[in-house]
This record gives sequence, structure tokens and C-alpha cells, in this order.
Amino acid sequence: MKTYRVGLVGITGYAGMEVARLLAGHPALKLAMACSRAEAGKRLGEFYPFLEHLPGSDIAISVFDPEKAAQLCDIVFLSVPAGTAMGMAVPLLVGGVKVVDFSADFRLRDPQVYEEWYNHAHTATELLAQAVYGIPELYAEQIGKARLVANPGCYPTCSILGLYAALRCGLIEEESIVIDAKSGTSGAGRKAAVPTLFCEVADTFRAYGLPRHRHTPEIEQEVSLLAGRDVRLSFTPHLVPMNRGIFATIYARLKNPRLTADEARDAFISTWEGNRWIRVLPRGALPEVRYVRGTMFCDVSVVNDPRTGRLIVLSVIDNLCRGAAGQAIANANLMCGLPVETGLTVAPSV
Ligand SMILES: NC(=O)c1ccc[n+]([C@@H]2O[C@H](COP(=O)([O-])OP(=O)(O)OC[C@H]3O[C@@H](n4cnc5c(N)ncnc54)[C@H](OP(=O)(O)O)[C@@H]3O)[C@@H](O)[C@H]2O)c1
Repeated sequence: MKTYRVGLVGITGYAGMEVARLLAGHPALKLAMACSRAEAGKRLGEFYPFLEHLPGSDIAISVFDPEKAAQLCDIVFLSVPAGTAMGMAVPLLVGGVKVVDFSADFRLRDPQVYEEWYNHAHTATELLAQAVYGIPELYAEQIGKARLVANPGCYPTCSILGLYAALRCGLIEEESIVIDAKSGTSGAGRKAAVPTLFCEVADTFRAYGLPRHRHTPEIEQEVSLLAGRDVRLSFTPHLVPMNRGIFATIYARLKNPRLTADEARDAFISTWEGNRWIRVLPRGALPEVRYVRGTMFCDVSVVNDPRTGRLIVLSVIDNLCRGAAGQAIANANLMCGLPVETGLTVAPSV
């Protein structure tokens, strides 16, 4: 199998760490460059002892240099904060390197919406038209031709995959969508911050980011595209005391209140038939985050509530794998002409 050289900027973060873990077992994407400002000079296996004896562990961590990246890499993952990634993407693309950006910098098609929700100017608006939103189930063909992929946010991935079949089959009133989502603490990143200290997170449960969490316009953008018109929805994230995983409970009013539970579930099953990663659970079964841990699976349950006329969709992913690193690798696979599942066929680490 032909191999491709991968660069990773943001190796010290949680998403970068997950990329390094997954690439250690990938047959065709080989880590060729790992960047961090804080840990430059260390050997990767020294910084991440869990990688010792695995491919990539002998790489020396370096400070990001776009010219060096163009020499060393075919494709670069930018696993850095929003606002930082766009400045890195420009010279990489000029140097002929493909880019998968983990941040929100290229997810929102309208730069004014970006500036309104991220509170800083977009400095690479000329690239927005070529950026492809990286959910392989929705945009595989465009991702395969792309030089720049905007890897989606973790909550948006979980929400959009949960809603996709209901929207595509016209089951729900789009304006009635309410997304009540919970994330493990790794979703907040690895930087030291008081709200994510052990004693602030363990043995408690809280909402945050209301009513303007930054993933709201991203979910609305994709739901609007699926609905064929502008949609506003409610999105409330919560932090739960677990390391990883996202659980979205999504409520929406049924267009046909007499839709039966079997009809609703059949719509989901036929939409996702043949898809390797979306698992529509048997009737009566409800998903759990541990059953998708470390994988690309999205487990979905559909509950029809005839008493309220609502459809309830339960959608569960692993935020670090399907919500970040794994999805980025699936996108890179497509960008390199590899089968989308290459290196990603692993069972959950229950
Ligand atoms: N965590 C998740 O579940 C998740 C899910 C989906 C998407 N994402 C997105 O993925 C990206 C990384 O997230 P994360 O959770 O891994 O964050 P993180 O744990 O806070 O790590 C951020 C990484 O970015 C690097 N970095 C920070 N500022 C930088 C700068 N100005 N220049 C160069 N490098 C810089 C840091 O490296 P040094 O400080 O060592 O240089 C670190 O490796 C973010 O855009 C995030 O929104 C995260």
C-alpha cells in the first residue's frame, strides 16, 4: 500500500494525542512531523510513553515551520485553536500540502457568522470557498477532491449524524429541534484551566455556554443545508464527569404525529443501510458512550413519543475519535484516495 507523510500541529493537545495513537496503527498514513511550541526538542515517545515501540515514537517534536512542513509532509493536521489554524493553513496550501483543520476556522461558510461567534476577524476568507466540511457520510465525494477540509466540531458531528435521517426523510418540523448534549471533559482541551480541574468536574454536572455556544451556528448551517432553508434551533451543552464521549438527546416535533415507531426506525435504518459506522440500535435499546469509545461509531436510537407528538433521537459518539482525530483520519484517507475506513476499523475500548 502506498504511504503518505502526515504532519500534526498540536501534538500536545487531546485531539493531537488521539491522532498520534490512531496513526501508530495506520497502514498508509505515517507520522512525519509532530509540532508543539512547549515540548519542542523532545522525542515523541519520551513525551508520550504510551507510544514507545510504536511507529512515530522516534520523531523529534518541533516548532511549526510551514517550509519544513512542505518538505516533510503530504498532508498536515492542524489540531490547534480557532484563530491560529487559518494563519497556518495559508502557507501550507501555497506549499502544495493538503490540510485538515480541526478548529472552526473553515467550518462556517459565512465569515461574518464566524466573526460574530468567535469574536475575531477571519484572515483567510479567500480559502472558505474551497474548504469542504468533513463529515464523510455527507460529503465523501467533495472531500476526496479537497485540498482543505474543515473537520467538524464534536457536538456538531454527534448532532448532525443523529438528525440526518430524520431531516432527509422529512420526519420532523425543523424549527422545533432541541439538542440537549453532554460531553466528557476532554472536549474542553488539555490546557490547564480552573473549570476543568478534577474537583470542579468530578461528582457534579453542569450546563455551560448558554445561549450562545459556538457550535450552534455550525449545527444550524448543516441542518439548514439539509432542510433546504434557514433553520434556527436550540442547543444546550453540558459537562459530565467522564474523560471522553458525547451524548446528544435530540427532540423534534413529528410532521406526522401518527407516524409509528416502526416507520420512524425504518427511515433511519434505510438511510444508513450499508454505512459501516452509523449503528441504528434495535428497538428498545439505548446507546451508551462506552460502547463507542475510541472509535468512529455513532450509535443512534430513535424513540417515537405519540403522547407528545415528538421524535426523540439519542446520538452517541466519542468526541476525540469520531468527533476529532478519527474523523480527520477518515477525511485524510479520502483526500489521499484510500478507502475511508483505512486504519479505523477498531472495536470500542469498553
Ligand atoms: N478536544 C476535543 O474533543 C475536540 C473535538 C473536536 C475538535 N477539537 C478542536 O481541535 C483543536 C485542538 O483541540 P484540543 O482539545 O486538542 O486542544 P488542546 O488540548 O488545548 O491542545 C491545543 C494544541 O494546540 C497547540 N497550540 C495552542 N495554541 C497554539 C498557537 N498559538 N500556535 C501553535 N500551537 C498552538 C498546543 O500546543 P503547544 O501549546 O504545546 O504549542 C496544543 O498542542 C481545537 O481547535 C479544538 O476546538 C477538539
